[in-house]
Amino acid sequence: MAAAARLLPVAAKRLTTTARARRLSTSTSTSPPATAVLYDQHGPPDKVLRVAELPAAEIGERDVCVRMLAAPINPSDLNRVEGVYPVRPPLPAAVAGYEGVGQVHALGAAVDSRLLSPGDWVIPSPPSLGTWQTYIVNPATAWHRVRSDVPPQYVATVTVNPLTALRMLCDFVNLAPGDTLVQNGATSIVGQCVIQLAKLHGLHTINIIRDRPGSQEAKDKLKQLGADHVFTESQLDIKNIKSLLGALPEPALGLNCVGGNAASVILKFLRQGGTMVTYGGMSKKPVTVSTSSFIFKVSTSDLWSLTVVDRVSNFICNLLQLCTLNVYTNLLLEASGIVILD
Ligand SMILES: NC(=O)c1ccc[n+]([C@@H]2O[C@H](COP(=O)([O-])OP(=O)(O)OC[C@H]3O[C@@H](n4cnc5c(N)ncnc54)[C@H](OP(=O)(O)O)[C@@H]3O)[C@@H](O)[C@H]2O)c1
Repeated sequence: MAAAARLLPVAAKRLTTTARARRLSTSTSTSPPATAVLYDQHGPPDKVLRVAELPAAEIGERDVCVRMLAAPINPSDLNRVEGVYPVRPPLPAAVAGYEGVGQVHALGAAVDSRLLSPGDWVIPSPPSLGTWQTYIVNPATAWHRVRSDVPPQYVATVTVNPLTALRMLCDFVNLAPGDTLVQNGATSIVGQCVIQLAKLHGLHTINIIRDRPGSQEAKDKLKQLGADHVFTESQLDIKNIKSLLGALPEPALGLNCVGGNAASVILKFLRQGGTMVTYGGMSKKPVTVSTSSFIFKVSTSDLWSLTVVDRVSNFICNLLQLCTLNVYTNLLLEASGIVILD
């Protein structure tokens, strides 16, 4: 997974100030001092993030101290730092990061050692804020043990993107083997998961990527993952877009990660009555929908779906040979960005 390339540490300014208050507890042990990436105000991540040394935290009797092994930098992490994400930790001294994997360092006296032991790999489940630090102390119930014989970057990134991909494949349209879906942002980690899961389900994928240097290599990589077709946006600037489908059925599901023109192209591919799910807005451009799409093609009740998913996904866990996870994903609705053309 490409996520491996963007694991911590992020570039940030090192300061030595301490920013975390010592927790009051009746326990007798403490964590080692931690190094954390945190921010005191919202703004561009390269400006407001700083590295700080945090004091040892008390380990309560029901707490577990975890030494973090890896934590990804997801787009939503950066959005939180920027202050544009709906869920934001309180400031100042907010430790960044939302998912990751760590190793149990120490247990509080009342933690059942049959459930967790020093050395176990754990993930925060559900994911929780503040994973960009070297040691975290949290109640034992906030940690979920996972297998330790898989690459840490896979486990560190399993909760947000693969499960988002899975839920989008399962929750909006009843897809059967042989069906087709279309997505933009196909090089994203979510997009790559969609391609692989679709392939496992016998689904075809039409994939749209942006025009940029290296787009041919990106196409080759996505095809190796199982993509049927990969197009750059400029290749889709043609009148009869569906002629590009060849023998594939028209897509019943479209997944929009980008917005702007890349979302409009998805609508052009969709079959009548198809569903487009918007889950990301990487271009920071609004989703623009032609009137004809609204009237003749897409069910509007399906189009702007806001879904909170909190189901346990056994499938993905079998797939990745991990433990069962409790995960919720928010499919973001950017209704304010909808523009209806004449
Ligand atoms: N709603 C949810 O529950 C949920 C859950 C997970 C993820 N998400 C969202 O899904 C999106 C993808 O997440 P990820 O972690 O998979 O991302 P990622 O791996 O960091 O990939 C980013 C993707 O965005 C593309 N991109 C970047 N800047 C762009 C721009 N200005 N215009 C068009 N495309 C651009 C990249 O294309 P290149 O390869 O060309 O750089 C790449 O495909 C994010 O918006 C994230 O917040 C939402």
